[in-house]
Amino acid sequence: MNNNLILVTGAAGYVGSHCLVELLNNGYDVVVIDNCSNSIHLNGKNMPESLIRVQSITGRQLVNFYKEDINNVTKLEEIFNKHRFIAVMHFAALKAVGESCKIPLDYYHNNVSGTITLLEVMRKYGVKKFIFSSSATVYGYPDYLPIDENHRTGNGCTNPYGRTKYFIEEILKDLCASEKGWCVASLRYFNPVGAHESGEIGEDPQGIPNNLMPFISQVAVRRQPFLKVFGNDFKTADGTGVRDYIHIMDLAAGHSITLENILKKEWTGWNVYNFGAGTGYSVLDVIAAFEESTGINIPYKICNRRAGDVDELWADIRKAQNKLNWKPKWTLKDMCAHSWKWQSKYPMGYRTLRHKQQHDTNDGNLNGNFMANNNNVDNFVQLSQQQQQRKEHFLDMSMMENKTANETLLKTKIFKGKRFALEVNNNEEDIIV
Ligand SMILES: NC(=O)c1ccc[n+]([C@@H]2O[C@H](COP(=O)([O-])OP(=O)(O)OC[C@H]3O[C@@H](n4cnc5c(N)ncnc54)[C@H](O)[C@@H]3O)[C@@H](O)[C@H]2O)c1
Repeated sequence: MNNNLILVTGAAGYVGSHCLVELLNNGYDVVVIDNCSNSIHLNGKNMPESLIRVQSITGRQLVNFYKEDINNVTKLEEIFNKHRFIAVMHFAALKAVGESCKIPLDYYHNNVSGTITLLEVMRKYGVKKFIFSSSATVYGYPDYLPIDENHRTGNGCTNPYGRTKYFIEEILKDLCASEKGWCVASLRYFNPVGAHESGEIGEDPQGIPNNLMPFISQVAVRRQPFLKVFGNDFKTADGTGVRDYIHIMDLAAGHSITLENILKKEWTGWNVYNFGAGTGYSVLDVIAAFEESTGINIPYKICNRRAGDVDELWADIRKAQNKLNWKPKWTLKDMCAHSWKWQSKYPMGYRTLRHKQQHDTNDGNLNGNFMANNNNVDNFVQLSQQQQQRKEHFLDMSMMENKTANETLLKTKIFKGKRFALEVNNNEEDIIV
């Protein structure tokens, strides 16, 4: 029997893949479940590209990869029957704020029902150690700064995505209160950015990025013409919004340390931790750090601020520091340098190989090639059923949106260039930039 086996859901995604590196490097054995609704699974490969790269970075193999949905109770039971897990790390979720307002039932079904199904199967098989990917979004508008874990949650959640995180946390609290043996850690991420220092894995948004760092990286690699900065009239030193950014590998280390702790007998019940850098940076700070660490100029335009964006938001991370003995080690410049390493090595993310070949044999115009050739992606990426449905949904939406007077330059370009094949915006929008 394996006494070291962890089940990780959603591990093919951005946060999960980086956490896997830490888990494997720390000697854990891992089984992964991911339905590939937001990950790139190249034809002919036996697992998503991110997982293949995690194995090559760590020099270790996964015990198993299952392309399955956490809502499929029969499959989950088969997997729990086959393997004896000591804990579950649960990343699988849909995470786009804007999309969640348009298809809320999908979000509640996937995130909330999916988590309940997973917990029920865990309970049936006596696995009661659980790490949940939560978000700073559960805090809503801050009553005070920095935000600590005692800050109220739920009241200010303004969208279905945020509410899925809040509801799941409430469910987890009820579960821990109702039954002995459960040990749950809910980790509230602030803004995870950057990439593994090798540049082999990183954030790979399927569509126009909603988050600041991937957008800057795509401007740097000329996949996007300029960065939109939403508002310069916030009550901050330079007028742009201030947020807390955490290096993805610091977050990954945080998961591993949390796991190590919750596996101890004396750890029980409900536990919650903020994971951020514990300091705030403005949008202009991030642009400057990126330019300084890469030497690349980032063109940007100041646009109107977005409804609901707050001036400043950053985390109090003393609880994680004191109780878990964790502290972030990477700087903002490291976050930028590693993002750039990943983006410049793989301008089209995990689909880059095909594009690189086209680029090499075509006219050498990086920007033109990426824009022009991107409608081939369906030919070599295995689209999951969910991706197919969401692609169709967003195709309809993008056609409607393109009729509106205020359509952005970027969306129009994509529409006319028929680059909408995988234009499903599925990165978590921060409340923010
Ligand atoms: N990235 C962020 O900025 C951020 C911030 C706060 C919280 N989170 C949370 O962290 C977790 C991971 O985020 P991420 O950025 O890696 O997202 P991601 O989309 O890159 O990864 C999520 C993975 O889960 C899979 N998945 C989704 N639904 C599934 C289902 N029903 N069954 C099986 N697999 C499923 C997807 O295919 C994907 O590989 C999510 O729960 C997200 O809400 C992310």
